[in-house]
Amino acid sequence: MLLTEIDHIAIAVEDLEAAIAYYCDTYGAEVEHREVVESDHVEEALIKVADSYIQLLTPHGDRGPIKKALERNGEGIHHIGYRVDDVAKALAAVEAQGHRVIDKQPRPGSRGTTIAFIHPKDAFGTLIELVQE
Ligand code: CO
Repeated sequence: MLLTEIDHIAIAVEDLEAAIAYYCDTYGAEVEHREVVESDHVEEALIKVADSYIQLLTPHGDRGPIKKALERNGEGIHHIGYRVDDVAKALAAVEAQGHRVIDKQPRPGSRGTTIAFIHPKDAFGTLIELVQE
């Protein structure tokens, strides 16, 4: 099994502060990490739930995939991040099965991780992110 854990569930939101306040005030959650990922035009806040995260994502700037997703689908679940031991190996396994990927090569993600996205069209409508810590 290449997937070792659910790393995060990513949720696209219009107002990051409001979404953080919702999780903190309602569930007593705490933000463990915040980061602007310039290359993805996104700002994130990570809320830990057991060994996984809720990743709240909002656009940083006026373009990028989260901006597009909000315009197209509104707020809600954007992708699921699965932890893997080796992104390059997992990516190769997906391609070897003839499934489309978005990232041909592993690339840097937030918090120093290495990531790659798999194409949702071949993954039953779910955008999958492989995450190596
Ligand atoms: Co993610």
